Amino acid sequence: MATGSTIGEDADQPMVRIRGLRKSYGEHVVLQDIDMDIARGEVVVVAGPSGSGKSTLCRCINRLEVADAGDITVAGRPVPLEGRELARLRAEVGMVFQQFNLFAHKTVLQNVSLAPVKVLGRPAEQARERAMELLDRVGVAAHAAKFPAQLSGGQQQRVAIARALAMDPKVMLFDEPTSALDPEMVNEVLEVMKALAADGMTMVAVTHEMGFARSAADRVVFMDAGRIVEEAAPEEFFSAPRSRRAQEFLSKVLTHG
Ligand SMILES: Nc1ncnc2c1ncn2[C@@H]1O[C@H](COP(=O)(O)OP(=O)(O)O)[C@@H](O)[C@H]1O
Ligand SMILES: [Mg+2]
Repeated sequence: MATGSTIGEDADQPMVRIRGLRKSYGEHVVLQDIDMDIARGEVVVVAGPSGSGKSTLCRCINRLEVADAGDITVAGRPVPLEGRELARLRAEVGMVFQQFNLFAHKTVLQNVSLAPVKVLGRPAEQARERAMELLDRVGVAAHAAKFPAQLSGGQQQRVAIARALAMDPKVMLFDEPTSALDPEMVNEVLEVMKALAADGMTMVAVTHEMGFARSAADRVVFMDAGRIVEEAAPEEFFSAPRSRRAQEFLSKVLTHG
């Protein structure tokens, strides 16, 4: 029997615990010496220049990538390598990408209700009811019968958030969820994320949206060249970054904000 299922869940453990994470692609070391604890209900914003390893970090947490070394636990359980345990872990870690990746030929409602039926074995009617609740929560219930292409980018991303929530995740990972959106749609997605954070969801959000970080994040983790360079409360990070690399980075992103 896999150790994951016998250890069970330990409420004293951080929701996500990362130790000594390392990942390379060939010669190129993309993540190294990553240690990170994310408490239950904590909201962590991950910032850093393009190529610093932010997406790879998210992908390692839910095992879309296999790390070369290091340990990751979610809710006190080791992240499994494969099989049924992995499917369960994936359900516990919701992920929202820059590209929404909705099924184009399924309705909004089907997009949100399919995985709970297929992966979690929920009865279809129950999955539909829950999906409608979640669509309502993210403000797109009126579009349930439409196809993704009939929705704006902001609406589609909110559907993608509802789809992730439909699996009852313990933690939500957001990888630049507003980067592909037209500017006028960024806020509607950030508002949904803020409401989730206020409801106590444990979240890791890769984003350069300072307003979100300031109002919703407990901590900002700044990465560069595959390492965590600096961690601080949002106010401190944005007003007085300690490292030169963070200072340089902020001087570039802030000119756009
Ligand atoms: N599948 C891959 N194969 C090879 N190199 C990759 C792959 N995915 C990412 N990389 C490289 O790893 C580094 C970190 O990428 P990524 O995690 O996407 O950074 P970020 O999200 O911070 O922009 C980059 O140099 C990128 O080119
Ligand atoms: Mg990325």
